[in-house]
Amino acid sequence: MTDNTYLTTANGAPVPEDNNSISAGERGSLTFDNYRLFEKLAHFNRERIPERVVHARGYGAHGTFTLTKDLSDLTIAKFMQGIDKKTDVFLRFSTVAGGQDSGDFVRDVRGFALRFYTEEGNYDIVGNNTPVFFLRDPAKFPDFIHSQKKDPRTNLPDPAHHFEFWASNPQSMHQITTLMSDRGIPKSLRHMNGYGSHTLSMWNDKGERVWVKWHFKTNQGIKTLTNEEAAKMPADGMQSDLVKSIDRGDFPSWAVKIQVMTEEQSRNYQVNPFDLTKVWPHTDFPLMEIGQLELNRNVDNYFAETEQAAFSPSNMVPGVGASPDKMLQGRLFAYADAHRYRIGANHQQLPVNRPQCPVHNYQRDGAMTHGSACPFSGHNQNANVNFYPNDREQAPKPKPEVAEPPMPLEENAWIKAYDTRDEDNYSQAGDLYRLMSEDQKRQLIGNIAGGLKQATESVQQRMIQHFTLCDADYGQRIQAALES
Ligand code: NDP
Ligand code: HEM
Repeated sequence: MTDNTYLTTANGAPVPEDNNSISAGERGSLTFDNYRLFEKLAHFNRERIPERVVHARGYGAHGTFTLTKDLSDLTIAKFMQGIDKKTDVFLRFSTVAGGQDSGDFVRDVRGFALRFYTEEGNYDIVGNNTPVFFLRDPAKFPDFIHSQKKDPRTNLPDPAHHFEFWASNPQSMHQITTLMSDRGIPKSLRHMNGYGSHTLSMWNDKGERVWVKWHFKTNQGIKTLTNEEAAKMPADGMQSDLVKSIDRGDFPSWAVKIQVMTEEQSRNYQVNPFDLTKVWPHTDFPLMEIGQLELNRNVDNYFAETEQAAFSPSNMVPGVGASPDKMLQGRLFAYADAHRYRIGANHQQLPVNRPQCPVHNYQRDGAMTHGSACPFSGHNQNANVNFYPNDREQAPKPKPEVAEPPMPLEENAWIKAYDTRDEDNYSQAGDLYRLMSEDQKRQLIGNIAGGLKQATESVQQRMIQHFTLCDADYGQRIQAALES
């Protein structure tokens, strides 16, 4: 049996002394044979990797997805065939704008990044707790995030910047209305919904594609906090609530539902189905329950699992796909690129990221190649041939039957930068306002006015116009709140 009780260096050798450095005399300088000290100090210097440029503060947990409805008519994805099929998952919650050491109870969108470890590779749905987003074009994303993060001179958050960006980008109105509503500060991570937000796709063995939106409805019920209640909460209260609830066996769960739109419907629907600032109204596209998601195991090590988790909308498996949503297309590039920078070229070999199925390909080597991308495939794919095509019978070959059905182009489409500024930015934000109770409206107006008061007169006037175009009452009440 291994003796785990003694201290070793990183190369496994027992360490005789770890409190006192070796010095030349009791009061003398250290000597160069302090190699154990050098290792300790040098490793300490390298403990940090870059934090995520957004969603830096987050908490992950493992769990299970149980399929309750066979989806073989919609998709060949193996994890969606049959009833009661179980798939391991990892879910990371996050806030967006703050750094790793910011607080939990801020008014912000929450990330809801879910990985399915399927037998045909990892499928990631990298969503949020909101069904829409601030933007419909990825070109705006870095500017938007800069406006939400800290001021470059003072290093302080500045609500005036938020509104300065939004005043020129009314496509954000729907998401602003969600963020500033009671839902902007969940009571806990267990008491909020998750949404895939984007329009994604599924395709079946007949080559038929449907467009799909994913919803994860909390079984704990929606619970929220006001700004005043949130201000009294401990900075890491959401993390501790999640960890404790899983540790005591009170496993949080979500009903998993999808909305489905055919390609034919998408061509004629009044709303652009690929616009991330829009939902598909439930009356037109009802939610269909397909399973249950449960979180039932905390991480053993925060850094190894949660911090090094590398979710990407480009992690897809046969039977699911992307869509022409421009934001999604931008994200298909951005995440894997961020992971190569943040973690390294072989980030998919780390236990939290590696697929739970064989990996056979012709990629080799690189920094920190420590084995294969999965436990089934040997050490750096062993002596397997590393070029393709080749003459070996047993070597990996492409599998044409998992090719996605071809995506049709729009008729008369031109390649150019399309200006989407004047698309409908207001009606669904107005719908959301109108469905709120009086108490929700009161909170919404107060939350918006609190930040907007700090903006310039010009920004305030433009924002009032935008709110009025969502709903006349909405605009009037914001104006009144600013004047009070
Ligand atoms: P429905 O009346 O069928 O759905 C309204 C939805 O609004 C419910 O899912 C409810 O979630 C959610 N909701 C209630 N209060 C808030 C809030 N303060 N912030 C965010 N969501 C809230 O109407 P439609 O489908 O026609 O949609 C109308 C509006 O509802 C949309 O413009 C959109 O803003 C919002 N919405 C729509 C969703 C969709 O996918 N269609 C999803 C979420 C929001 P719950 O049931 O959990 O209480
Ligand atoms: C994290 C970019 C839009 C949800 C990130 C990261 C980047 C990024 C670079 C850090 C990734 C990492 O280091 O691991 C972008 C770009 C977007 C965009 C360029 C738009 C063009 C969105 C949208 C959503 C979203 C629309 C949700 C619907 C998330 C989540 C995370 C994240 C949940 C954290 C993932 C985790 O927990 O590790 N984003 N993002 N992002 N993004 Fe986005």
